[in-house]
Amino acid sequence: MSIKDRLDKNNIPKHVAIIMDGNGRWAKEKGEMRLFGHATGVEAVREALTAASEIKVDYLTLYAFSTENWNRPKEEVDGLMDLLVTTIANEIESLNNNDVRLLTIGNTHELPPKCKKELMNAMERTKENKGTTLVLALNYSSKYEIKTAIKTIAEKYKNGEIELTDVTDQLVDEHLFTAGIPDPELMIRTSGEIRISNFLLWQIAYSELHFTPIFWPDFKKEDFYKAVYEYQTRERRFGKVSEQLNGTL
Ligand code: FPP
Repeated sequence: MSIKDRLDKNNIPKHVAIIMDGNGRWAKEKGEMRLFGHATGVEAVREALTAASEIKVDYLTLYAFSTENWNRPKEEVDGLMDLLVTTIANEIESLNNNDVRLLTIGNTHELPPKCKKELMNAMERTKENKGTTLVLALNYSSKYEIKTAIKTIAEKYKNGEIELTDVTDQLVDEHLFTAGIPDPELMIRTSGEIRISNFLLWQIAYSELHFTPIFWPDFKKEDFYKAVYEYQTRERRFGKVSEQLNGTL
């Protein structure tokens, strides 16, 4: 029996975020170039997206390229951008067949023109889809996102458009790239690294974290279900005590 069949259908996270890590180490172990790891990582993207769609996760956010990733060797950066362009182009039909809508977060205006064109096209062509929304974090930095929100809010205060009392969690939410997207209940990181690496720092305040030693290219649907299953065993207290949650206090 698949772990999928043991999942509580009434407790599926609405939003799962993934730090896809370990492509380079996976390739190195096989004596291959890092780009081969990234190319194989696309298979794992398909696995995760299919799994998310099958159990009706509303949002799947994937950390595909951070602002820090520009510092990698040019060959790898160019290869990743090419991979993004070809993957998006090849997958549009499949996204539509599976009712998946594509969105992006991050400074996508700084991506190479061919990337921007392909992304705009894919977002336009999938915008009416009602199934899982795939959110690609591209040229993304959480600190930049928060800093920009602070600047915009400060500007609005300076111009008298808002009072200090208007600065609520909700107002901050509305000024992030993720405006309109619920916070992830679950964040997964592959490859055994136990850190967040500047990803969705505000949004994961109450997320459950799942770290797995599996390198991203080896990540399968079953691994996604396993992470959701483990999430369902956790007690999410949001600062309260157990007895308040189970009504015995
Ligand atoms: C991290 O592994 C992975 C990335 C920086 C890129 C992720 C990209 C893909 C999976 C392919 C394209 C994605 C889409 C959405 C089309 P790493 O290179 O940091 O691995 P390492 O830590 O082992 O070196």
